[in-house]
Amino acid sequence: MDLYEYQARDLFEKYEVPVLPGIIADTPEEAKAAAEKLGGVVVVKAQVKTGGRGKAGGVKVAKTPDEAYEAAKAILGLDIKGHVVKRVMIAGGAQIDKEYYFSVLLDRANRSYLSLCSVEGGMEIEQLAVEKPEALAKVEVDPLTGIDEAKALEIAKAGGFDDETAAKVAPVFVKLYDVYRGEGATLVEVNPLIQDASGNIIALDGKVTLDDNASEVRHPEHEELEDKDAADPLEAKAKASGLNYVKLDGQVGIIGNGAGLVMSTLDVVAYAGENHGGVTPANFLDIGGGASATLMAAGLDVILGDPQVKSVFVNVFGGITSCVAVAEGIVKALEILGDTATKPLVVRLDGNQVEEGRAILAAANNPLVTLAAGMDEGADKAAELANA
Ligand SMILES: Nc1ncnc2c1ncn2[C@@H]1O[C@H](COP(=O)(O)OP(=O)(O)O)[C@@H](O)[C@H]1O
Ligand SMILES: [Mg+2]
Repeated sequence: MDLYEYQARDLFEKYEVPVLPGIIADTPEEAKAAAEKLGGVVVVKAQVKTGGRGKAGGVKVAKTPDEAYEAAKAILGLDIKGHVVKRVMIAGGAQIDKEYYFSVLLDRANRSYLSLCSVEGGMEIEQLAVEKPEALAKVEVDPLTGIDEAKALEIAKAGGFDDETAAKVAPVFVKLYDVYRGEGATLVEVNPLIQDASGNIIALDGKVTLDDNASEVRHPEHEELEDKDAADPLEAKAKASGLNYVKLDGQVGIIGNGAGLVMSTLDVVAYAGENHGGVTPANFLDIGGGASATLMAAGLDVILGDPQVKSVFVNVFGGITSCVAVAEGIVKALEILGDTATKPLVVRLDGNQVEEGRAILAAANNPLVTLAAGMDEGADKAAELANA
């Protein structure tokens, strides 16, 4: 889960990373009141989960509460790379002397953590990475030892800091690593980390990605950070039923057991769709090992709730769960759903007790259900029905 800047700011504060005060506002009036409360120069900042807000006009300096009102009015509703601004943060205004870059992230390819650092931070960091890659240091961080003061100094030196400044930023790097570890994050990025006119080091922007797997187990409090309005309603419904569902753009609903089988089902359906008007998969849905009737019903319910879906392909390989249980699950699921199930279902079963499973579906004789002998055949049939 990606966090908004204001949420990252709150987490930073909890770990004593130096930040400026920030107040969120959903209207220009609230922005004005926030500016009055903070006093002095403030910065009105779009809260959207994408970078480059500054360049898109989503960050504006306001010298008075009235200016904050106008800035908020201009920023609210702005479309930044497809994200419409619904909320702004009114932050204290910093007198920036220098802008630096620091991040720590999960480096999956190397099964390790990686820290990126540069004394040349700010809005041009992407350009820097391309044009002057040597100025952006990449330092591996051992997950077992993390970033202590010595490691932080090593990172700062690699990033081009002089000794004096390195000594000032290093304690902040250590605290940012504490956020990374303490919250179970896969990314903590600060750009810019600044030195202000009085020599203070301050995190002026924050990008944090939390690891959902860590959140579920170790951080139940992260649920509050979830952006329920922004989540896709079908994905939210699936999540509530404990289903592993990702909405896609196509017309063929997919249900399978096991992530690998579902992934290959998506490929096979997309391929089959080329012969049927270019239909593509409507979703990823893995109902996992124990494909019970309730789970099957919940899965079908989510998929049939997608107005784009024209047909459904159920592709299950019976392993520990026998095809009998799956077939009974499908029959019961269709009973549970009753009239709401109106779209054709192509079912391919294979593996443990396949004959018995197919016999159950054949006996139920539901007009919506077509049995397919194999995966390619099933994909082709489902694509054909979606294109009908
Ligand atoms: N509180 C602040 N005070 C002064 N300047 C700021 C403040 N917050 C951001 N800025 C300036 O605006 C630029 C863009 O803001 P930032 O938060 O980094 O957004 P983004 O990375 O999405 O463009 C920063 O590089 C900094 O120069
Ligand atoms: Mg930034």
